[in-house]
Amino acid sequence: PEAITVQELANRMAERGGEVVKALFKMGVMATITQTIDADTAELVVEEFGHKAKRVSADDIEIGLRDAEGDDTGNLSDRPPVITIMGHVDHGKTSLLDALRKTDVAAHEAGGITQHIGAYQIVTPSGNKLTFLDTPGHAAFTEMRARGADVTDIVILVVAADDGIMAQTVEAISHAKAAEKPIIVAINKIDKPEANPDRVKNELLQHELVPEDMGGDIICVPVSAVTGQGLDNLEESIALQAELMELQANSDRRAEGVVVEAKLEQGRGSVATVLVRRGTLKVGDIFVAGSESGRVRALLNDRGEQVKSAGPSEPVEVLGLSGTPEAGDELIVVEDDARAREVAAFRHEKRRQTELAAQGRGTLDQMLSKI
Ligand code: GTP
Ligand code: MG
Repeated sequence: PEAITVQELANRMAERGGEVVKALFKMGVMATITQTIDADTAELVVEEFGHKAKRVSADDIEIGLRDAEGDDTGNLSDRPPVITIMGHVDHGKTSLLDALRKTDVAAHEAGGITQHIGAYQIVTPSGNKLTFLDTPGHAAFTEMRARGADVTDIVILVVAADDGIMAQTVEAISHAKAAEKPIIVAINKIDKPEANPDRVKNELLQHELVPEDMGGDIICVPVSAVTGQGLDNLEESIALQAELMELQANSDRRAEGVVVEAKLEQGRGSVATVLVRRGTLKVGDIFVAGSESGRVRALLNDRGEQVKSAGPSEPVEVLGLSGTPEAGDELIVVEDDARAREVAAFRHEKRRQTELAAQGRGTLDQMLSKI
């Protein structure tokens, strides 16, 4: 079966269409950029370019771009874990993020927190770097994952000790399990007189999360976002979990990252908060982000300070975009402007078609509902 157009394949590999046509020609396959080739041929081409192909189904392949520049082979170094906090409404997700941020050793040195962006990194008193994603709604977590923007390494499940497991806690558990993310439970609000951490642990059992002190492997840390109690334990537990996971990335290559949030700001233009996943993003780099492109004019860290570069697991604000990308969009550094425009135009067109198709469905539904 015919599987993929030459252009789409080139795009997925972030290679030039012309180069793919040439490679096909060498393999004895005559195809133009708009023609469709079968999955077997596509797989060969992918390997020809040094990428790794993964067969998703009989007629679709997934391309492991990261392998192209040796992420699996050379130059790997440890990277900080990326942590997402989830839990029921009012159980203290935002308070906990704020409280954890206040423990940042580096921020204290720099004289406090000046900026709020969608992600931040702290250095714990024992010297571990941890990257926190500002709690997306549970739906956003699933949506990002569905789009391949699966940036979370560890899920912190916040459960208020005075309230216990509630509807959205259960939801969060199932999202974390579906995503196969390790869960650390932060039993929050233990400063409250009515706090009952043991009840929380018993309730966890009902959702097949067995706490460590009950013979299982789920770490539960009692904390208070208000008094700061237990935050050091929570940070150490996260660092320990991260160590077990041996999280690594190649920082010595063109950057790839994910847009965590993006907005149009007066006087600054389009600004995107990007979490770098691999490689190092530098001022002057030419990139594509979703269907937008640009050249990095400035990078700002989570304290609003200008920085020259950002490595794996580091969140940065990126200035210099042609337009505003969407949360979950992938940012890729490319070799030159021409390539950036090519990829951006292709993605633009693809999105337009998707939107048109969706509109088409919409009107059809409307028509049907009137019958
Ligand atoms: P949503 O974003 O609305 O889902 O809530 P959230 O989970 O972010 O909770 P948030 O941090 O807004 O906290 C909800 C309320 O609980 C606020 O009034 C907090 O001051 C309070 N709170 C959070 N953590 C603690 C804690 O450790 N102890 C006490 N006593 N109160 C807390
Ligand atoms: Mg909140």
